[in-house]
Amino acid sequence: MKTDILIRNAAQMATCAGCDRPRRGKEMSYDIIMEDGWIAVAAGKIMGIGRGDIPGEIEVDEDTLVIDASGKTVLPGFVDPHTHLVHGGSREKELALKLEGVPYLEILKRGGGILSTVRATRAASEEELLEKARKSLDIMLLHGTTTVEAKSGYGLNLEDELKCLRVAETLNRQHPVDIVSTFLGAHAVPEEYRDKKEEYIDFLIQEVMPLVKRLGLAEFCDVFCEKGVFSVEESRKILTRAREMGYKLKIHADEIETLGGAELAGELRTVSADHLLAMSGKGLKKMKEGGVIAVLLPGTSFNLNVGKYARARDIIDAGLAVALATDYNPGSCPTENIQLILSLACLKMKMTPEEVVIAATINSAHAIDRGKEIGSLEVGKKADIVVLDIPNIEYLPYHFGINHVDKVIKDGKLVVDEQRLVYRDTR
Ligand code: NIG
Ligand code: FE
Repeated sequence: MKTDILIRNAAQMATCAGCDRPRRGKEMSYDIIMEDGWIAVAAGKIMGIGRGDIPGEIEVDEDTLVIDASGKTVLPGFVDPHTHLVHGGSREKELALKLEGVPYLEILKRGGGILSTVRATRAASEEELLEKARKSLDIMLLHGTTTVEAKSGYGLNLEDELKCLRVAETLNRQHPVDIVSTFLGAHAVPEEYRDKKEEYIDFLIQEVMPLVKRLGLAEFCDVFCEKGVFSVEESRKILTRAREMGYKLKIHADEIETLGGAELAGELRTVSADHLLAMSGKGLKKMKEGGVIAVLLPGTSFNLNVGKYARARDIIDAGLAVALATDYNPGSCPTENIQLILSLACLKMKMTPEEVVIAATINSAHAIDRGKEIGSLEVGKKADIVVLDIPNIEYLPYHFGINHVDKVIKDGKLVVDEQRLVYRDTR
C-alpha cells in the first residue's frame, strides 16, 4: 500500500504497545521505548512501524509526506479521558475567594462554583458554546491531544443538557479531535431543585437519561459523588439505572472527602473512578477487585491549592492501572494542557516519565473504552501521532509548562505543523 506519511529517524518513539488491556502496576513502565524509530501511515491507519532502515515494502513516492524526526520524540496522540469541555463563562472572580481560603465546596454552597457556570451555560446560545469549546479543542490539539472525553453537567435541565451534548456531537463531526461524550446531569443539584434533591434525581432517571440515550448523545454516565453533592447511595441509584439504560459508567469519587466513592466504583465495576485524593485503603482494594481504572487529575489539586494529591504511587504499586487527565473545566482546573498535567504527575505524585506517558495514552484510551483503536503506536490502529521537539521522554515532564509539540497527525492527516494548526475546517 502506498504510504501517505512516513516519519523516520525518531530519537525516541514511545509505542505504548504490546498489551491489549490497560497496563497495571509495573506494566506501566515496561518496554515502551524504541530508538531510531520509523512509522508509516496509510488511509488513516498505522501500516508499519520499526527501527532503523525502512523496509522495501513501505512504498514511498513524491506524494508521501516524509517527516524527519531526528532529535525528536514520537508518541501516540494524547487521550484526555476527563474534561468538562462544554460550558459558558469563566470563574476568574473566584480566585480571590480561593486565595482567602474559602473551600471549593463552600463556594458551591453559596451558589457559586459549578452553579455559577450553570447560570452562564444556560444563558449562552448553542452557537456561543460551540465556538468557545472549539477554541479549547484547538488548544488541546496544539498540545497533542487527539481524543477527549467531554462531560455535560452545566445545563442541569433537559434543554440545556441536550444543548451541551449537541455541541460535543457537532464538534466531534467538525473538528479533528475525537470526542467521547458523558452525561453528568448529577454534577450538582440545580437551584430550582434546592432542597428537592430526590425529585431532581428522579427527573434525571425518568426523563433526561433515557432521552439522552435514545438520541445517542452520550456513551458514559458519570456522577459527582461528594459530601453535600450526591451521596454514595444516590450515586449507586443513578449509576445502576444508567447501566440498565446502556450507559458505560464513570464516577467522580473521593475527591474532597472520604465518602466511599472508590468502593462504589469497585462494586459497580465502573470503567473508571476519577480524582481519588481522599480514597480509603478499602476503596483501593475494591477498585482493584473491580478492575477499575484510576483516572488522576493532578492539575485540579494544583489549581485548588489543596496541598494534597492522589496517592499515585500506592495505586500503581498496588497493581492498578492509572490514567491521567486534565479535568479541563472553568472552576477547578482551567487548563487544556495535558503536558503540564504530566509534569505535575511526575513532580507531585512521583510517577515516572514512562508511567505518565502510558497513563496519558493507552491507559486513558482504555478509560474511555477506546483501547482497541487508539492510545498506542501499533499496526492497524488509528494514525493519531505526535512529534515532540524533545530528545527523549524524560524531557517531557522535566521542561514544564510549555508546549513541546512540533507536529500532530490525526486520523492519518497532518493537523498541526510547527506548532500551528493546519487542518482544513469542515464546517
Ligand atoms: O471534576 N468535581 C466536580 N466537577 C469538576 C469541577 C467543576 C467545576 O468546578 O466547575 C471537577 O473538578
Ligand atoms: Fe471533573
